[in-house]
Amino acid sequence: MKRIAVLGVTGSIGRQALEIIDADDELELCALASGSSELETLAAARGVRHAQVGGDLTTLLDLSEPDIVLNAVVGFAGLPATLWALEHGVTLALANKESLVAAGELALAAQGRGGGLLLPVDSEHSAVFQCLEGRRLDSVDSIVLTASGGPFRGRTREQLADVTRADALAHPTWQMGPKITIDSATLANKGLELIEAHFLFGLPYDRIEVVVHPTSVVHAIVRFRDGASLAHLGYPDMRVPISYALTYPERAATPVEGLDFSNRLTLEFERPDVETFPMLALARNAGEAGGTHPCAYNAANEVAVAAFLAGRLPFLGIAGVAEEALARVHGVPAQDLDELIEADAEARRLAEEALGALVP
Ligand SMILES: NC(=O)c1ccc[n+]([C@@H]2O[C@H](COP(=O)([O-])OP(=O)(O)OC[C@H]3O[C@@H](n4cnc5c(N)ncnc54)[C@H](OP(=O)(O)O)[C@@H]3O)[C@@H](O)[C@H]2O)c1
Repeated sequence: MKRIAVLGVTGSIGRQALEIIDADDELELCALASGSSELETLAAARGVRHAQVGGDLTTLLDLSEPDIVLNAVVGFAGLPATLWALEHGVTLALANKESLVAAGELALAAQGRGGGLLLPVDSEHSAVFQCLEGRRLDSVDSIVLTASGGPFRGRTREQLADVTRADALAHPTWQMGPKITIDSATLANKGLELIEAHFLFGLPYDRIEVVVHPTSVVHAIVRFRDGASLAHLGYPDMRVPISYALTYPERAATPVEGLDFSNRLTLEFERPDVETFPMLALARNAGEAGGTHPCAYNAANEVAVAAFLAGRLPFLGIAGVAEEALARVHGVPAQDLDELIEADAEARRLAEEALGALVP
């Protein structure tokens, strides 16, 4: 029996995780957390003693002693739980990519001390993880992350000037929470995933490629040095990578259908348009610059997306704010969590200033 703490249980990933746990006799829910939604009814219905709304989730984890932490909190707020799991050697099923992007080096150092597993839940990274299983890293040439391109694929910058919140929230292939859906529309999500992949798989940025693949059937591809490429395919459904992370190294059955190859399945790939969607190029630059630049990228993006969702910033302003803030951060590496929190706060301050200048 594996005891699982589901953090962000009221969200898109959290709810799908409950479905997987409920269907599997070997998975037991031991703790729940949300940001502000009340959890009493949910916890009572499932007989879970440990539930927490907001605050420091490490207390909840100390008390509930999970075997697996499924971190599906959105944003930088997920960082303490990520570090707790890695430091304690408790398996971390990570959906909260923002924490690994912001704290990559600190997180890997914590994992080095704790010695536990870090299993990606992001579908692309789960796909890479599965293609790499049992293979030597020196046999890998490069990895390819696929992006759906979001709702605005193929548009010009001029055509993006007036898009609304509702337009940006209408994702063509994935049903997700609002923040990641906006990140998908700007391609910041793929930018975060690029940095996430760098930390998860230890490859330099010039060996991690992003391609647009509109139907989201191929989740990732690994090219090997002998010229072979392995790809991971499936209908876009997060229950597959969630289940994989929670039942690893087994592969439990899920209700998701296997692919139908008999019905004109076509796979198309194209280069991303980084001029129209600058958040992807900004992520690559931040990743390559290293230090706390990825942390700043994430922080500035969180500020800009919140402003867009609140109706305070036009869509194109998201990249404008991030670019302006990133141009002003120092990016010096953080030696510890306090310095990282400072870098995050500084980037948020600079992003707020950029926001004020753009939309006074
Ligand atoms: N959705 C997907 O398909 C998908 C795919 C890959 C990766 N991810 C990643 O998974 C994470 C969650 O995404 P999502 O789409 O599930 O988001 P979501 O639907 O917006 O859910 C976010 C969850 O986080 C909780 N939360 C927010 N702030 C919190 C805090 N300070 N402490 C504890 N809980 C907090 C929310 O609680 P409230 O209900 O109280 O707000 C909610 O349960 C993100 O990092 C995202 O990038 C998502």
